[in-house]
Amino acid sequence: MTGEDTARKGIILAGGQNTRLYPVTLAVSKQLLPVYDKPMIYYPLSVLMLAGIREICVITTPRDRAQFENTLGDGSQWGVRLSYLTQPSPDGLAQAYLLAEEFLAGSPSALVLGDNLFFGQGLQQMLAAADARDPGGTVFGYRAADPRRYGVLDFDAQGRARGIVEKPEHPPSDYAVTGLYFLDGSAPGRARQIRPSARGELEITDLLQLYLDDGLLTVETLGRGHAWFDVGTPSALLDAGNFVRTLEARQGLQIGCLEEIAHARGWIDADRLRAQARIFAHNDYGAYLEGLLR
Ligand code: DAU
Repeated sequence: MTGEDTARKGIILAGGQNTRLYPVTLAVSKQLLPVYDKPMIYYPLSVLMLAGIREICVITTPRDRAQFENTLGDGSQWGVRLSYLTQPSPDGLAQAYLLAEEFLAGSPSALVLGDNLFFGQGLQQMLAAADARDPGGTVFGYRAADPRRYGVLDFDAQGRARGIVEKPEHPPSDYAVTGLYFLDGSAPGRARQIRPSARGELEITDLLQLYLDDGLLTVETLGRGHAWFDVGTPSALLDAGNFVRTLEARQGLQIGCLEEIAHARGWIDADRLRAQARIFAHNDYGAYLEGLLR
């Protein structure tokens, strides 16, 4: 350590053209679309907050930055600090570490894709364990019915991960790497070592491979009791929305409620929570926040 920050910082990558959702995303960022009752980006933001991360940078396209700022503000309503950066063109997920290098200032980080939704028992403990791993990194594997759409893990005979391949024609396993990456402070330096792939992107899988090759990457597997959505298509958007609606309706508990997480962690007091509840006074979200005060 060289006297740099050691608290883990968060990055939400919420750029991209998102042409797969055209015409819906012609004028609106995908990550601001509703997943049932909240903007999509609430869900990955909630994951960072559940990991105890309070300093978070949101990377958007130049076109959409103002809308993200209008939606999320400076984060003080949730007891976190949000800042914003723009990615001029979608040159790959690993570019996030180059764009955010100054923001990170040597800190370990958790990068989450703005279209990824995680849910499941024990998630918080897994996040805490990943946070505690430094130096090194942690990624989360998830069994996927069609792994060819993702970065896919390759395991050796002992079941240890030895490789990660981006969207392989012939997947070496059924395990996709989800869009949540806990990496140590060396990530920007390592990102500088990788070169654009055949499709012209700085691939996150190439960055992760550098960690794997150095024996520094832990792979946690999310079991069948977990849900993971990568919301890239109209069907996935509807599926994720239905999932959230079903669970919330059955349990009367919110998924991805940022005020609830902030209040439970003691990051906002009752007055702050009450002020938030007043903003949403006329709907179920506001009623839920009111309920938290009782
Ligand atoms: O969701 C998990 C998967 O995410 C991983 O398994 C893959 O290894 C990883 O490459 C990524 O695959 P996707 O096919 O989902 O990548 P996509 O290019 O769609 O980008 C993911 C999100 O990140 C998308 O919402 C747009 C945003 N993005 C993408 C790129 C390439 C950016 O903000 N900037 C970019 O440069």
